[in-house]
Amino acid sequence: MTDSAPLEAFADVEAMSRAAAARVVESARAAAAARGRFSLALSGGRTPRRLYELLAEAELPWDRVHFFWGDERCVPRGDAASNYRLASETLLSKIPARPENVHAMPCDPAAPEAGAQAYEETVRAFFHGSDASFDLVLLGLGPDGHTASLFPGEPALAEASRWVAVSSGRSASPPVPRLTLTFPGLAAAREALFLAAGAAKRALVDAAVAGGADFPAARVRPRGGVRWLWSEAE
Ligand code: 6PG
Repeated sequence: MTDSAPLEAFADVEAMSRAAAARVVESARAAAAARGRFSLALSGGRTPRRLYELLAEAELPWDRVHFFWGDERCVPRGDAASNYRLASETLLSKIPARPENVHAMPCDPAAPEAGAQAYEETVRAFFHGSDASFDLVLLGLGPDGHTASLFPGEPALAEASRWVAVSSGRSASPPVPRLTLTFPGLAAAREALFLAAGAAKRALVDAAVAGGADFPAARVRPRGGVRWLWSEAE
């Protein structure tokens, strides 16, 4: 997939997930070889489930993979809405990931700002204050054009320096506070890989790929570029 176009369309989620898994594996092996580690930011929602299941079957230097999240709902980790739970059930519980390499977002709904600050420190320390962030960020697309927990109208969209912020999540489902990577945090990544499924999202995907659109997913501009994978079937 190294020479793929910014957008690849697939008939179904299985084919899209297999292509995404191939890209993650390629990126992981290259990063581990070049820098001795691979930093991957996971997305939430329903779409990445099959990708995570496929990654659980992949041959990777798992002891050198560091897992982060692009966003997290401020719910208990065992809650069905938890992005951590999604990744844990489908991937982390099935591979020899080192516990110290799993960097979950700490979000107490009573004090989300403290969680954002703590995760900011975690991410900054991991990258030793460099201006670069994740090797690869997985992202989804909401019907309102959001990605991670960067929802239209959220003050987090205006964050110009911190890499992690609080999102009220008022317009989300579930409508709970969330932590999210910000545009600066996403811009510092080497690459972003979007997965979107369903005919209803095609117009948004095309607008994001074409450039010039201003909904949140269209404004993600990592240093290494963006790839969009879209499945016609949900
Ligand atoms: C979240 C996700 C969110 C998701 C989109 C698409 O925590 O909800 O990070 O940004 O990727 O809402 O969700 P689906 O994959 O379920 O369509």
